[in-house]
Amino acid sequence: MSVRETWATRIGFILVATGSAVGLGNIWRFPFLTAESGGAAFLIAYLILIVSVGLPLILAEFVIGRRTKRNVVGAFDELGRSNWKIVGGIGALAGFVILSYYSVVGGWVIQYIIASITGAYTSDPAAYFETASVGTNAVVFDALFMGFVAGIVALGIRNGLERAAKFMVPSVVVLLIVLSVYGATLDGSGAGYAFYLSPDPATLVSDAIGLLPDAAGQAFFTLSLGMGVMITYASYLGEDRSLLNDSLLILVVDTFIALLAGLAIFPFLFAEGIDPGTGGPGTVFVALGTAFAELPAGQLVGTVFYIALFMAALTSAFSILEVIVAYVTETFGFERKPATVGIAGVIFLIGIPTALDINVLNAYDVLANQVLLIGGGLLLAIFVGWFFAGEALEEFTTGSDGLEGLGTVWIWLLRIPITVLLLYVLYNGVLAT
Ligand code: PFF
Ligand code: NA
Repeated sequence: MSVRETWATRIGFILVATGSAVGLGNIWRFPFLTAESGGAAFLIAYLILIVSVGLPLILAEFVIGRRTKRNVVGAFDELGRSNWKIVGGIGALAGFVILSYYSVVGGWVIQYIIASITGAYTSDPAAYFETASVGTNAVVFDALFMGFVAGIVALGIRNGLERAAKFMVPSVVVLLIVLSVYGATLDGSGAGYAFYLSPDPATLVSDAIGLLPDAAGQAFFTLSLGMGVMITYASYLGEDRSLLNDSLLILVVDTFIALLAGLAIFPFLFAEGIDPGTGGPGTVFVALGTAFAELPAGQLVGTVFYIALFMAALTSAFSILEVIVAYVTETFGFERKPATVGIAGVIFLIGIPTALDINVLNAYDVLANQVLLIGGGLLLAIFVGWFFAGEALEEFTTGSDGLEGLGTVWIWLLRIPITVLLLYVLYNGVLAT
């Protein structure tokens, strides 16, 4: 078997992991969910979950990956816990489902880059979204997006993923900062911020509790948790530095980008008097299309926005494909290039129904986030908390000297509160499916 690749640099690892986290989840899904759920109460539930559940689970995935240096499924063999391979299996399955519709939305984004340049959506943004999001266009651009994803993964860890992330992730951050500064200069920006940032104190607590299941699904999705991306990425680490620092950094950047996307988008909408509360996957595209049609230099702003969104989507999409490619190449001994093309093809086929009917896309999204990712995360929490705690602690403290106390808190969080919360969320999710 060939020698396993590792990341060329530490910053390369941080950028690929951040690139996986930052994606459509931050810039498309987070704003529409927040809008649909009434704004600030959702934001608060989400922030609490990011820190209390997201951080411990990023760490759980990182310790498994770095310790075993194997793919999602193989990692459990390596640990001598083959029964738990099912967790890796759920992860790989979630990868097929998520990437199949994620790439459809990626295809919309490519169409919107072109349409921003040509002005195709300016006269009727809602009608444009209908022709772009469903049917032939959606299928063709889905295939194109998958082509980009597979092209990068086929090049391998260093030449493909790491190199792309080094250029794209900083670009996304810079472009979004530019756009949010532009948004701040618009008339309506105050109303946009208020909708987003000021909760209604009277109903805040009950609202936030009711929103927990959705907020948890979003927390997993946005941090790429529950399906082994972070296991796979940490498995390519060559050196042992603090996993806690890296986890914190990824979490902070991901949250910053989600907030920034909101700060960029809501002012556009309010400046044009558009109600963000309609909800659904079309919200961001239709509403922004309307805004870009009216705003000063709107086509240019739109082009920049969709280019940023494209790069963000690509660095997330290739992390999902990498999980499956690592598993298949290491388990069955296939070469990376043909395996990548084959798997990408299968995922494309699975996604076709979502490109033909937006309700199917929604159903895949609920299944993946509310059930598969949460289920995967629940099993991971139980595994690391109860069956792997000693080794996990040892791996956690490698590179984080003197943090045994914090490590113990981490294990106990996984054992009880996180497990109980995820059981509750999963129960809700299963009911919703
Ligand atoms: N974190 C990505 C986003 O926010 O767009 C989506 C994602 C990537 C989810 C990888 C799950 C995953 F495994
Ligand atoms: Na994200």
